[in-house]
Amino acid sequence: HLFDLCLLTCFLLDGTFKQRYLVADKHWQQPGGPILLYVGNEGDITWFCNNTGFMWEIAEELGAMLVFAEHRYYGESLPFGQDSYSDSKHLNYLTSEQALADFAVLIQNLKNTQPGAQHSPVIAIGGSYGGMLSAWFRMKYPNVVVGALAASAPIWQFPGMVPCGDFYKIVTQDFARSGYNCDTNIRKSWKAINNVSSTASGLQWLSEQFSLCTPLKTKNGIISFKGWLQETWVNLAMVDYPYEANFLQPLPRWPVQVVCKYLGFNSTVSDYQLLHGVSQAAKVYYNYTGSSSCLNMSESATSSLGWLGWTYQACTEMVMPMCTNGVQDMFEPEEWNFQVFSDECSAMFGVRPRADWAGTVYGGKDISSHSNIIFSNGGLDPWLAGGVTYNITDSLISIMIPEGAHHLDLRYSNDHDPPSVRAARALEVKYFQQWIRQATKTPQTSKT
Ligand SMILES: *[C@@H]1O[C@H](CO)[C@@H](O)[C@H](O)[C@H]1NC(C)=O
Ligand SMILES: *[C@@H]1O[C@H](CO)[C@@H](O)[C@H](O)[C@H]1NC(C)=O
Ligand SMILES: *[C@@H]1O[C@H](CO)[C@@H](O)[C@H](O)[C@H]1NC(C)=O
Ligand SMILES: *[C@@H]1O[C@H](CO)[C@@H](O)[C@H](O)[C@H]1NC(C)=O
Ligand SMILES: *[C@@H]1O[C@H](CO)[C@@H](O)[C@H](O)[C@H]1NC(C)=O
Ligand SMILES: *[C@@H]1O[C@H](CO)[C@@H](O)[C@H](O)[C@H]1NC(C)=O
Repeated sequence: HLFDLCLLTCFLLDGTFKQRYLVADKHWQQPGGPILLYVGNEGDITWFCNNTGFMWEIAEELGAMLVFAEHRYYGESLPFGQDSYSDSKHLNYLTSEQALADFAVLIQNLKNTQPGAQHSPVIAIGGSYGGMLSAWFRMKYPNVVVGALAASAPIWQFPGMVPCGDFYKIVTQDFARSGYNCDTNIRKSWKAINNVSSTASGLQWLSEQFSLCTPLKTKNGIISFKGWLQETWVNLAMVDYPYEANFLQPLPRWPVQVVCKYLGFNSTVSDYQLLHGVSQAAKVYYNYTGSSSCLNMSESATSSLGWLGWTYQACTEMVMPMCTNGVQDMFEPEEWNFQVFSDECSAMFGVRPRADWAGTVYGGKDISSHSNIIFSNGGLDPWLAGGVTYNITDSLISIMIPEGAHHLDLRYSNDHDPPSVRAARALEVKYFQQWIRQATKTPQTSKT
């Protein structure tokens, strides 16, 4: 479906655009059956819809209607069509606050126009940035949603809230536990790359080992190459699922273990042997299906995600400090430098980030006055670093899934699911039922 939304306010005459949303009402018990709303994040909503099997699996039990709403500026919900990303003037309406307002207006409209939906309690569900939006949606619009599931939502990955190095520390722990010397050898690989790439023949050898589409030529190329590898290890940690899956890329079961099979060298390994192993490991991520003819350093994840839009959001509101020191993590040391980041944003988009804005507008760590939010987190997921990992109150609940990667609980159930994720899903449904019961007992419509 498409829905007319206001760009900023509806006071301007031509200030609307079409928002895409998907509806599944096969199991909906009307009148009054609940609505499960997936609050779309930075990508194509059909892709999130396909990767959120949890909602499809509980719809019947809850008698729920499913609604998947696309986030403005992603997928097909482009306010200015092909021009949406053309410059900072067109991008100016890409904010999380506006996205939340869009979801609120959409839901109010559905309730007003869909027969039987007027008294339906709505539960927000989302993962990652969508999980952050889900939590914030309940905080900002408690009149619209009775509760929220925020899966793998790093609502505290903002300046001054958590240590900037924890994210990469968790990535490193995943590799350390997935194979002999795995983290140690990745830590060694950066110097090996510097060493091998110092000669022209070394550069050529490296390009050939990694089957790069575009051979490495310059010093800047090596910096990008190392950045691309680092991103590869991060993505692998995020999608370290216990079964074969295709989220960011098609991958085998426990992909980090598979990758680590190529990195189990002892200390006598030469730079060339080591980097050969690293190339084999990278190809697990980029060529599991055997269909890639070369590795493209411009592509590290599915094109269903809106990389450019997210980069813009990080350059405005979503300032997430990250750093490495090479000791507690396996990466080259790099400090968090807000000024450098801000200058990059200025060069790329003509905008400067506001470091403290997310904390101001969404409450930072001071959220105990809110209610009915579940924060679920996976122990293998680097985004755990910025997540809510303890129970704040009786109704601001944290659920830990120690064997889980990035929002495993939102995915379809699988025979290989660890008991912790089965328990998490069961508890989540229990809370949903409780919120629905509460809402049905005390209808919010008792106005005169
Ligand atoms: C989602 O699944 C449908 C049905 O299998 C498929 O046609 C569509 O291409 C998928 N969308 C994405 C973005 O993967
Ligand atoms: C650099 O590589 C050469 C061989 O190419 C090797 O002899 C040397 O030990 C390496 N140096 C370091 C610091 O790894
Ligand atoms: C290190 O690995 C090499 C080759 O796999 C092997 O020959 C050597 O014995 C190993 N050394 C140690 C100390 O394990
Ligand atoms: C990907 O795997 C296939 C099948 O093993 C192989 O033929 C191809 O060369 C690989 N591609 C790269 C870039 O290594
Ligand atoms: C690499 O990926 C980028 C971005 O998708 C694309 O524009 C480019 O054509 C690709 N290069 C090769 C050689 O496939
Ligand atoms: C929070 O409370 C719930 C319900 O009592 C419990 O299942 C869960 O383990 C608690 N979470 C943490 C992180 O202690």
